Amino acid sequence: MSNGHGVSTLITGAAPYGEEAADVLITDGVIAAVGAAATAAAKRATDVEVIDADGLVLLPGLVDLHTHLREPGREDAETVETGSAAAALGGYTAVFAMPNTDPTADTAGVVEQVLRLGEDARLVDVRPIGAVTVGRKGERLAELAAMAGSAAQVRVFSDDGDCVSDPLLMRRALEYVKAFDGVIAQHAQEPRLTAGAQMHEGDVSATLGMTGWPAVAEEAIIARDCLLADHVGSRLHVCHLSTAGSVELIAAAKARGTRVTAEVTPHHLLLTDARAIGYDPVFKVNPPLRTDADVAALRKALADGTIDIVATDHAPHASEDKECEWDAASPGMLGLQTALSVVVATMVEPGLLDWRGVAAVMSERPAAIGGLAGHGRPIAVGEPANLVLVDPAARWTVRGAELASLSANTPFEGMELPAKVVGTFLRGRRTVAGGALVAGVNA
Ligand code: DOR
Ligand code: ZN
Repeated sequence: MSNGHGVSTLITGAAPYGEEAADVLITDGVIAAVGAAATAAAKRATDVEVIDADGLVLLPGLVDLHTHLREPGREDAETVETGSAAAALGGYTAVFAMPNTDPTADTAGVVEQVLRLGEDARLVDVRPIGAVTVGRKGERLAELAAMAGSAAQVRVFSDDGDCVSDPLLMRRALEYVKAFDGVIAQHAQEPRLTAGAQMHEGDVSATLGMTGWPAVAEEAIIARDCLLADHVGSRLHVCHLSTAGSVELIAAAKARGTRVTAEVTPHHLLLTDARAIGYDPVFKVNPPLRTDADVAALRKALADGTIDIVATDHAPHASEDKECEWDAASPGMLGLQTALSVVVATMVEPGLLDWRGVAAVMSERPAAIGGLAGHGRPIAVGEPANLVLVDPAARWTVRGAELASLSANTPFEGMELPAKVVGTFLRGRRTVAGGALVAGVNA
């Protein structure tokens, strides 16, 4: 056991942030020493588990600001426990759970229930996101302060799946969360411009004869919300940016000092609307896959910091909601176990980000945006040992049926991707070892 009192773990030969290799000693869930001091201290100690990590990259445990865990309500698609397993296997030590559950996570009671389920699963820290409006109906504000003051200490609020489209409600929500330094995470989609939409509005939708979801429906909300955030001096986070125009709007807002942050999903960094040809609903997602030019703009924006973070929008769906005709299918894709590999393929391999950059966009900044203490911290003495070991040379083929999620709707089925998570540590306790969930982690 690596988490008992006085018991230590020495990780040897791994390269923190892909830089110089340095031994790391973990004692009682905390990084006790780094480098030669770790090697020396481990020699003096009595009960040390040694993990040979030669050739591996060591990063702070990943943090996902946008995960759908489906519990309560759709335990056939995912549970907090199975989603937590997928997260740990993907290198995550913390996930923020979206509130579009049944019942909606719009009260202290429901967010505390999700928090407890996460604590029981013991695989990652699960931080509930609260709904902005009651039942996510966009009619009246939910009890934001009660959720903030609950045991779940909610700081992120979102009606994700739907847009807070009423500008007055959005204004009030932004004003309200200022009191406890909260943030509104907006799903930017003008509903009137996307009624019946099935995919990106463009050449492919015209050819396929599908109702289009135009870029302007996202961009109009982002422009409005940045202006509202300026007006009330509050913090706005924009979920799953998908268009080149959205990038321009975020860049302009940041340049004038707007308190705005933005995320991009792995699937929007890799896939385009061409995937809709063939009508396989595994490629149906909201916002939709866009064009090559959008993908290029999103990658560049993530590299230059205009987009702050990668968030998965992990959206498990039961087979009956995905294996049907396109129009009837639910939008959404699995993401937790493939996110790091897709970021390596789209950002690291082309030279757009190094491992320091990966740590920033997948761990440090998401923790900071979500106000999550103890995660996204430096690999340094005294810090909580929330860590992930990655084999940068490994390649693996994605098989939905083999993923830990209860659902199998990965858009990366059959793809060979680079980089594999081989170990994950939550406060020094191994949740993943040798690329597999640690047996008996719930014991
Ligand atoms: O594709 C999506 N799926 N987009 C969303 O905004 C919601 C999510 C879900 O809950 O399935
Ligand atoms: Zn969304």
